[in-house]
Amino acid sequence: MAQITKVRGTADSLPEQSRKFEYIEGVFRSLAAEYGFGELRLPTFEKTPLYQRSAGETSDVVSKEMYSFADNGGEQLTLRPEGTAGAVRAVIENGLLADALPRKLFYTISCFRYNRPQAGRLREFHQFGAEVFGADSWLADAELLCLVTRALEKLGLKNDVTLRLNSIGCTTCRGEYRKALLEYFGGHKQELCETCLSRMEKNPLRILDCKSEICAALAKDAPKITDYLCDDCRAHLDGLLAVLDAQGVGYEIDPMIVRGLDYYNGPVFEFVTDKLGAQSAVGGGGRYDGLVAELGGNPTPALGFAMGIERLCMLMDANGFEFPAPRRCRLFIIPMGDAAKTVAARLAGAAAQADIPVQTELVLRSVKASMRYANKLDADYAAVIGDDEVASGCFTIKDMKGGENLTLNGADELIKALKL
Ligand code: HAM
Repeated sequence: MAQITKVRGTADSLPEQSRKFEYIEGVFRSLAAEYGFGELRLPTFEKTPLYQRSAGETSDVVSKEMYSFADNGGEQLTLRPEGTAGAVRAVIENGLLADALPRKLFYTISCFRYNRPQAGRLREFHQFGAEVFGADSWLADAELLCLVTRALEKLGLKNDVTLRLNSIGCTTCRGEYRKALLEYFGGHKQELCETCLSRMEKNPLRILDCKSEICAALAKDAPKITDYLCDDCRAHLDGLLAVLDAQGVGYEIDPMIVRGLDYYNGPVFEFVTDKLGAQSAVGGGGRYDGLVAELGGNPTPALGFAMGIERLCMLMDANGFEFPAPRRCRLFIIPMGDAAKTVAARLAGAAAQADIPVQTELVLRSVKASMRYANKLDADYAAVIGDDEVASGCFTIKDMKGGENLTLNGADELIKALKL
């Protein structure tokens, strides 16, 4: 029968890889807990209009990349392409904004985007994300950026990742800016790509994010949003920069950061690297003060970020980061005969209760082959339990690293010997 292989753009994470992901997620989780974030575990699919109304019809994510389908009942659903829209839906639906604010939430999720797979770009990928609801001060923006910066330091990526920061203003300043952009790109209509021509009408800001070489070159000389910020947006950005400076969080102002999703306003950012080729963003986020109201909640300022786990892991691998090794097997028990199996299981059970990693020969190989397997496991000790050991209750644990062998009497002595 023909073999069925995985879907293009998806990846199997085998134990060695999963251990790395778990480590990266653990660093973010423990920092998030320190900052007072609680965990959200939300559905993998949502009603399609949730994403259309949040990420926006003109975003690449909604217009080209969503995995959408009608379920058997005919409802239009979408596999989540990102976590923010679902988080906003959930906080509104569960009344979380009625409590004391701010409400700080994080999530570790898989996301689905139908894009062209390449190194660092998958169709199913993983994010660690965090969202803060109900805080309009720039202190909240600074706190999030500080959290990510500290996490990147812990992951050994301090010198590999740059924080690029911009403000895309509010509806007031963006109106003026939009006019300036239309005037500028209007003078270059013949040069723009097809997609950007339609972006001119719907959302000219998106042109700044176009990947086509000609549009990107034009975008470089386009008016800069930072020259159009209203007093409030200017003050918010300046306040944020002052806190980052005071905290020693490094950043670069980059007026080309406009983000690929439509819900943002005010400060937006990306964490970028020059070590992953075209997939340079390892994380991104910003403010989205209008989204809660847009999705039916009371107007609530909000902001957040998401980091790409695979991309962080690729960077750490490239750096030769030493992920902590899993706990090694302390003892490998080799039972010979049926009575020995019961004794082996009892010893293994006692060790497990004492939180000592013990494994038992389950394939019932010869002693020699079992020893080879114990070596492969990198076990500290191995013990053969045969009829004599069953009869006497005494057994010898062999030091696999060449040290002293120990003869022990019963489970209690074993536990004492194996406790580090
Ligand atoms: P995003 O920039 O679309 O933002 O995605 C965040 C990160 O996910 C990216 O920086 C990248 O590392 C990773 N990523 C995105 N697409 C792929 C892919 N196809 N393959 C591998 N990694 C990928 C958001 O998703 C927003 N929800 C972030 C946010 C939270 N904004 C406010 N709150």
